[in-house]
Amino acid sequence: MSHLRKIDHVTYACAPGTIEQWAWFHIEVEGGTLIKRIDDVRPDDADSSMKIWCIDYGDFGIALVEGIDRAAKSQVNDFVDRHGDHSCQHVAYDCHNLEAFQAHMKSMGGHPRGETLVRDDGFGILKQMFAKGYAYGHAGEATFPEYCQRPRNAAEAQAVTITFSNEAGEGFYKQVQDAIDQGDETPFFDFSQMPADWVVPAERKRGAA
Ligand SMILES: [Fe+2]
Repeated sequence: MSHLRKIDHVTYACAPGTIEQWAWFHIEVEGGTLIKRIDDVRPDDADSSMKIWCIDYGDFGIALVEGIDRAAKSQVNDFVDRHGDHSCQHVAYDCHNLEAFQAHMKSMGGHPRGETLVRDDGFGILKQMFAKGYAYGHAGEATFPEYCQRPRNAAEAQAVTITFSNEAGEGFYKQVQDAIDQGDETPFFDFSQMPADWVVPAERKRGAA
């Protein structure tokens, strides 16, 4: 059974000064709707921050982030220097059952970046877990997956604690910044459990059990 339901959102890192250009592209060319605009997710941080703008397409979203350098360089600008303008920083996957997937993923060798967060990420309330980077190295320059679960009915929505949207984006920014500050360059996945004799499964028809 697949643990993942669908792509929830994709987050692109924009070069300094380009977030408006990319918002125009996603809104006017692709037809998305700007549903949240935060121009400084960490206004009290003397070191660095970022903008996060959330564009909705109905069934999924695109988030644009742009770094704000202050005393220090923003991790978003480190990412852009490494990967280029409008490069994909993370893809968020909506899970059927986030806790069940996390337990399974950890048992197979996966490492979260930090604790599961319950918050409004700009698209709405969710539970979310950011993983460490796919590749070994500087946490700000790594691409990584986010695994999340949105409430799918009123009862589930009531069951999650509501924290409001000026925190959107702050969660992963802080977790990645903590990893940079601590020099944590370890990757998301430890592949030691992958059998040396693992055989790629035969192709099957889509949707076949
Ligand atoms: Fe995200």
